[in-house]
Amino acid sequence: MGSNYIGKDFLKLPTPCFVIDEAKFDANCLNMIRNVRELETASGKDIKFRPHVKTHKTIEGLAKQLGHGLVAVNETEDAIVFSTIKEAEGILDYQEESGNVLVRDICYSLPACIPEILERLDRLSTRASNLRVFVDNIEHLNSLLKFGPTSSGKKWSYFIKIDMGTHRAGLMNGTKELEELLSRASAPEISEVAELYGFYAHAGHSYSVTNISEAHDLLVEEILAVNEAAKHYSSINPQADVSSFVLSVGATPTSGSLKLADQASLIEIIKNSLVGRLEIHCGNCCMYDLQQLSTGCVQDYEIAGFVLGSIVSVYRSRGEVLTNTGVLSLTRETSRFPGHGIVVDPGEILNNEHYEKKWFVEKVSQEHGKLKRLDENSKFSAPELGSKIAILPQHACIVAGCFNYYFVIDSKGIVTDVWRPIRGW
Ligand SMILES: Cc1ncc(COP(=O)(O)O)c(C=O)c1O
Repeated sequence: MGSNYIGKDFLKLPTPCFVIDEAKFDANCLNMIRNVRELETASGKDIKFRPHVKTHKTIEGLAKQLGHGLVAVNETEDAIVFSTIKEAEGILDYQEESGNVLVRDICYSLPACIPEILERLDRLSTRASNLRVFVDNIEHLNSLLKFGPTSSGKKWSYFIKIDMGTHRAGLMNGTKELEELLSRASAPEISEVAELYGFYAHAGHSYSVTNISEAHDLLVEEILAVNEAAKHYSSINPQADVSSFVLSVGATPTSGSLKLADQASLIEIIKNSLVGRLEIHCGNCCMYDLQQLSTGCVQDYEIAGFVLGSIVSVYRSRGEVLTNTGVLSLTRETSRFPGHGIVVDPGEILNNEHYEKKWFVEKVSQEHGKLKRLDENSKFSAPELGSKIAILPQHACIVAGCFNYYFVIDSKGIVTDVWRPIRGW
C-alpha cells in the first residue's frame, strides 16, 4: 500500500498523509552523530550514542539514525532505545529475516519490570545481542530476582532511571526511594540475576527552554545528575566498578545543544569529573517539529516531517477554511505556536529558508481541521478548494503515530520510498 505513488510528485498524494523530506531527515541524523563525535574528539573520552526510534518506528529511519548511508561503514552506531516491545520485535524480525544486523544493543525506555512484561522482554533477550531494561522501583528488582536470569542465560542488564525534575518516570537524587533502590541494587542476591549497567536521565522538561544555551545548561544538569547517582551507588557498594557504568543522558533540546560552538565547560566536566562512560541519547532530533521550534534550538526548515492536507471548504464571512486534517491526523498536541499545526505552502516546504507562515490549524475535531489566519488583520485571501497544504506538526512522534505509512520524498518533491512504522504494542 502506498508504493504505487513512488515516482509521483508529492502534491499528487492522497490526503491526509505523512510526508518525510529525506534530505532534511538525513541532515538531522548526520548533524547529531557529528556533534557527538566532535565532543568525543574534543574531550578525548569514548562517548556512546544511542538514538531513540520512537519518532518514526521504522527500519529505514533507524538505519539513518545510526549513520548508515551517512557516515563511513566502520563509523556507524549500533545501540538504540525503543519505546514499545513491538518496535524491538519488528527490528529483530527484520534483522533475522534479512541478515542485515544494524543493532546490537537495545534498551527498553519504559521502567516496566513487572511479570507480564518481563516474559516478553525475556524472549527479546534471547534474540538481541544486548538488552537493557529500566529500573526505578525496588519492586522491579524484586521481579527480576523472582524471574531469575534471562532465558539467554545472561543476567538482566539494567539502567537505573534518574528523574531530574520532569517527574514522568525515575527517581530523583537525594530522595529516600533512590537511596533504598541503590541499596537493594547492591544486594548480592540481586547481582546474581541482574547487573547494573548504568544511570539514565532524560530531561523532558527541556522542551520548555527558549534558547540553546538554556538547553545546554540542562544537558550539563543531566550529566551531573547521572554522575551523582553513580557516585552515590559506589559509596553504598565500594566494590562496584563505577568506571564501567554508562551515564546516559539526553533529550532532543539538550543533545541538540551540542551544536553550540562553546562546549568548554562540558568538556571540562567530561574530562575531569565523570566517573563513568558518557552516552548521549535522543529521538525526535531526526525529525523535529513545532515543539522543538519553540525551544529556539532549531530552524523551521529543518523540520523533516509534515502532514499533507487538502482544503475542502472556505467560509469567507468567518474568515475560516476547512481542511481534511482533523485530530486523527494532527493530534491535539500544542506548543508555544498556536493551535495544532502551522500551515506552509507546499511550494516552500522543500526549501532551506524560513517559511512564510500565514495560517494555523486553530481547531480539530475527528476529521475536520479549521484554519485561521495567524494575523487576523491580514487580508483574507481564500485558498482554492482542492489545493494542498503542508502542516508542520506540533509533536512529530505522536503525529507520525497516526499513520500506517509515511511517504518519503526527494529534494524535488518526488516520492522515492514508503516507510512502514512498526505500530502497536
Ligand atoms: C526514556 C527516553 N529517552 C529518550 C527519549 C528521546 O527524547 P527526545 O525525543 O526528546 O530526543 C525519550 C522520549 O520521550 C524517552 O522517553
